[in-house]
Amino acid sequence: MNNTESPNIKPLLSVKNLKKHFVTKKNFFGHPKEYAYSLNGISFDINKGETLGLVGESGCGKTTAGRTIMGIYKPTDGEVYLHGERLDLTKGPEKRIQMIFQDPYACLNPRMTVGEIIGEPLEINHVYEDKKAKQNRIYELLELVGLSKEQANRFPHEFSGGQRQRIGIARALAVNPDIIICDEPISALDVSIQAQVVNLMRRLQKELGLTYLFIAHDLAMVKYISDRVAVMYMGEIMELAEAEALYANPMHPYTKSLLAAIPVPDPDVHQDISIIKGEIGAADVVGCPFALRCSQASDRCFKEKPVIKDVEGHKIACHLL
Ligand SMILES: Nc1ncnc2c1ncn2[C@@H]1O[C@H](COP(=O)(O)OP(=O)(O)O)[C@@H](O)[C@H]1O
Ligand SMILES: [Mg+2]
Repeated sequence: MNNTESPNIKPLLSVKNLKKHFVTKKNFFGHPKEYAYSLNGISFDINKGETLGLVGESGCGKTTAGRTIMGIYKPTDGEVYLHGERLDLTKGPEKRIQMIFQDPYACLNPRMTVGEIIGEPLEINHVYEDKKAKQNRIYELLELVGLSKEQANRFPHEFSGGQRQRIGIARALAVNPDIIICDEPISALDVSIQAQVVNLMRRLQKELGLTYLFIAHDLAMVKYISDRVAVMYMGEIMELAEAEALYANPMHPYTKSLLAAIPVPDPDVHQDISIIKGEIGAADVVGCPFALRCSQASDRCFKEKPVIKDVEGHKIACHLL
């Protein structure tokens, strides 16, 4: 977790100006005519053992970011480096990067036993020659996530939502990945179960030295797991800072409004519901993507795209600061 020993130490994952534009319409000749500008050049580093929270409203491009980093989507532009080595994302998914999904049921094959589901990545990557060794690894993974080896022969529908997410985590861990991209892993779970899954992920992180990119749609969900947090809006990062600094001193108007939307448990504290006003802007706007909804936007915000700069330790894309 501490990378101060050597100033030259490379980040575990480095994302540089990553873009993904989907073709949504083609012309008569089959040439692209319209695009969805889902990811518009995001950049960040993640160090070993660290958790970077990636937060933004639904549709802002979080899943696209995760899938493009993994090599599931071919990037339109930009690069991803693992241990300083540039990944060839045209080759498809990279085994050292694994993903945990929001809906643990949709991604678990209902006709496979839990043992087969967890063992599949081992099989695909030819990790074990020996059947017995593979079986033992499956049992070990089940126990690691708080399930028992007796459950290996059961099917996904026999498990609760929280248990299914544990199966998804065990499957992601099977091939000892360097980094796990967690795409809203607790959003679909009951509130009472969310903390259990987050605690499990934190324990595994400590025990195994894991690194996470933890995606969520609100800041409350990533608060207890993130070392740093990146706030995304319409395919771009608006603010990135140490978690403590971000929650204590949000600087970007968008981060402020997201934080104001966190429900306050104390019923005597009244919320400011004036929060986010206006429409979601067009994806190909020239200026700041948030300008349309920003109460402080000036002329310049509509005309000129703010570049990310360092302000008091926060990386921030805003003309107002
Ligand atoms: N395969 C796709 N083809 C076209 N548009 C897509 C595709 N996947 C996502 N999008 C669009 O990209 C934007 C971001 O989507 P997504 O990454 O799923 O957002 P999030 O995960 O933050 O909710 C949305 O407007 C969505 O409609
Ligand atoms: Mg998503």
